[in-house]
Amino acid sequence: MKFFIDTANLAEIREAQDLGVLDGVTTNPSLMAKEGITGKDNVMRHYKQICDIVEGDVSAEVIGTTFDEMISEGEELAELDEKIVVKVPMIKDGVKAIKYFSEKGIRTNCTLIFSAGQALLAAKAGATYVSPFVGRLDDVSTDGVALIEQIVMIYRNYGYTTEVLAASIRHPMHIIQCAEVGADVMTGPLSAITALLNHPLTDIGLAKFLADHKKASSK
Ligand code: G3P
Repeated sequence: MKFFIDTANLAEIREAQDLGVLDGVTTNPSLMAKEGITGKDNVMRHYKQICDIVEGDVSAEVIGTTFDEMISEGEELAELDEKIVVKVPMIKDGVKAIKYFSEKGIRTNCTLIFSAGQALLAAKAGATYVSPFVGRLDDVSTDGVALIEQIVMIYRNYGYTTEVLAASIRHPMHIIQCAEVGADVMTGPLSAITALLNHPLTDIGLAKFLADHKKASSK
């Protein structure tokens, strides 16, 4: 399972990269706004900085919602760095744009996926990644992990190469459940990734090992 971090915060991206388990980064307009990154030049510079930190794919989302706008923005983003994956919303012009990018060899991440039908359309259009939002489905009393399982099954049935990127991950159990049902990738906050480290028996066990070692060494 690939681990992506879902943030535009450079310090968090560096910390995840330093941990040695990071496979990429996903961003969205809300995450960029949270870091105060506005204006085209600043946005492009920020994406470049992210690409310079990580070794894997970096999803950068288009703001335009018409085919022409998405093509023009997406081509510019793709030229910025070979790590860039153009993130496109699941709307009619978005599907057309994904098809266009796929034919031009530009990689895409189809975002705001909330149903299996949307995921099927994105795969048919040639998306590199599809991003179903697990946490936001859970927020409205709908099983987000069940959607991941459904999409994984559909893609396997037909051999689609589109990778299932479980997005809107909120906590470590989401990561584990998405791994169980075969998500190719998960993207979540640093807190969800580092929470995987924790187990009280590990802490208790380590404290005992060190205490026993200290006792024996002082004899
Ligand atoms: O980047 C898309 C998705 O991961 C957003 O997550 O937590 O805002 O629902 P969240």
